Amino acid sequence: MGAYNDEFTRSIDDPEGFWLDAAKAVDWLTPPEQALDASNPPIYRWFPGAMLNTSANALDRHVQAGHGDRAALIWDSAMTGQQRTYTYAELLDAVAAFAGALTERGVGKGDRVIIYMPMIPEAAIAMLACARIGAVHSVVFGGFAAPELATRIDDAEPVAIVTASGGLEPGRTVEYLPMVQAALELSATAPSTVIVKDRPEVTGSAADYGWLDFDEVSAAATPVGPVPVAATDPLYILYTSGTTGKPKGVVRDNGGHAVALTWSMKNVYDVSPGEVWWTASDVGWVVGHSYIVYGPLLVGATTIMYEGKPVGTPDAGAFWRVISEHGAVALFTAPTAIRAVRKADPDARELAKYDISSLRTLYAAGERLDPDTFFWASEKLGVPVVDHWWQTETGWAIVANLRGLEQMEIKAGSPSVPVPGYRVEIVDGAGAPVPAGSEGNIVVRLPLPPGTLAGLWRDEERYRTSYLNTFPGYYLTGDSGYVDDDGYVFVLGRSDDVINVAGHRMSTGSIEAVVASHPAVAECAVVGIHDDLKGQRPSGYIVLKAGVDTAEDTLRSELVKLVRDEIGAVATFRDVTVVQALPKTRSGKILRKTMRQIVDGEDYAVPSTIEDPAVLEALVEQLAPPTED
Ligand code: COA
Ligand code: AMP
Repeated sequence: MGAYNDEFTRSIDDPEGFWLDAAKAVDWLTPPEQALDASNPPIYRWFPGAMLNTSANALDRHVQAGHGDRAALIWDSAMTGQQRTYTYAELLDAVAAFAGALTERGVGKGDRVIIYMPMIPEAAIAMLACARIGAVHSVVFGGFAAPELATRIDDAEPVAIVTASGGLEPGRTVEYLPMVQAALELSATAPSTVIVKDRPEVTGSAADYGWLDFDEVSAAATPVGPVPVAATDPLYILYTSGTTGKPKGVVRDNGGHAVALTWSMKNVYDVSPGEVWWTASDVGWVVGHSYIVYGPLLVGATTIMYEGKPVGTPDAGAFWRVISEHGAVALFTAPTAIRAVRKADPDARELAKYDISSLRTLYAAGERLDPDTFFWASEKLGVPVVDHWWQTETGWAIVANLRGLEQMEIKAGSPSVPVPGYRVEIVDGAGAPVPAGSEGNIVVRLPLPPGTLAGLWRDEERYRTSYLNTFPGYYLTGDSGYVDDDGYVFVLGRSDDVINVAGHRMSTGSIEAVVASHPAVAECAVVGIHDDLKGQRPSGYIVLKAGVDTAEDTLRSELVKLVRDEIGAVATFRDVTVVQALPKTRSGKILRKTMRQIVDGEDYAVPSTIEDPAVLEALVEQLAPPTED
């Protein structure tokens, strides 16, 4: 490990020099003289005193450098059959105009703007427009229902909401405007401005609600330039699932984010200015923030924004079509998407129809890349298939195979090695290091590198209790795993009640809270069980109130609808099983992990603290999969 080792070692031995050098790739209004501000541990800040504008770095600088005609964003909608390319100059114009429209409605530096949009260019335009005026965007994934949107509105207290008439899912349209209306009725905050991008495919438009039309306000606006913001000022808040029902508002700064993402495009992903890069995710997730919008634009690459699915829009060749039509050098997607393609087209017959010779690398993240899927994709595509591990909180990879630095060995089942700046360690429950090969809590020694979370929105206490207090001096990732003798990290799964469904992070606690609100339910446990396609899926175990005799089928459809209405379709809650009792410890804690192990047919140990072993035995009888013989 030559170049990688050199870079990693320097990032640890001389973080000031390493990150100030990396910062030279960013255009500053006031360049940083200091990288790390360690004056208030365990809270750290990067590039104190420096000033910049993220949208100027993503757009203006490329136009000023003479690349205005280069494609910045290619929108490819498999849902509508439309395609549209924005050059850097066109995207800059659209962003400056929409930034003007926001400014004219009183949106300014530090104000929050909720963006609730499907995969259309206006979502990226709205994000960059906020960045341009120093407003803090908070994008809410379109698969969340009104109450989830309302929770985020209440927490972020936005002055404006930018939305669209709706999204397109296979076989149905998702009308956003009634959901925005319902969310506004549920929330205590009343943003003064709602701006709607009208989509002809979806019923409803701004005028129906007395709101503003995106195209009209943009056309009428005076374009505005980028405002200077501090490196430490927030760029965005992105809510993610914690273990409780209340989502966590991860705050990202401007300066560290620009430096880290710029560094990552070349060193982690090996992508250069002018190359076509494709992340098949959604702007509502961190992967979409970092690698559909900011990362590729910061380095002057061309980003593809894809509205569609890996299969069924119209077939399992969709990904190969997009790569071949636009000449993408890399695709970044979730393992679930690759599994979906494999399931529909195991022999990759669709692949033979397209010329994907432009593709150099397939990147996967969002969930563990299982060896089966890794081997299938490697064999069929004939390019390196590269897993890497990160989280909403970190905003970019913690562990990766850094293709731009060195062609390191790829080991199936491992996202490879710590990225420069991240001191990854494995510790036991008491915080003591464990030997190579032993499983433990994956932690990262503080400070985290630039680009990682600055904290949780207006909740420093939760930031400390969720991430910093458990093992002082370390950031708690919430994942467990081990490091092998070669320093390769293997991520085995979450050690908390967060689950991962199709690469989407969900809290079993929030689904439980909704299920428990049903009048027939006395108590319940929601557990993430194995799913061949989606990795995990939530499965509900319900104890009925005494005297309730609702049929299980009726209860199931009522609960499924309830979760859909309260959280959203993306929770993928479909399994409901009525049980006599839930296994608990003597202190009343439900043994969720043991339940999951039983349902998945794994070995499990009966905890010594169990309240009533008979409950567990009954559950094994009812839920354990039949044995082979
Ligand atoms: N807006 C509204 N609804 C949405 C949505 C959105 N943006 N995204 C998903 N949904 C809905 C789906 O329509 C589906 O609804 P249904 O229950 O009515 O069918 C439900 O949420 C579950 O969606 P999903 O988990 O995506 O399952 P699917 O069966 O529609 O598709 C895959 C399966 C594998 C094709 C899909 O999960 C996929 O592409 N996964 C890749 C994941 C990914 O990119 N993750 C990003 C992190 S890197
Ligand atoms: P999110 O914040 O939604 O990106 O989800 C982050 C979580 O997804 C991590 O804490 C992991 O549990 C899981 N995850 C993401 N990428 C990987 C990966 N490459 N391997 C294993 N788990 C992953």
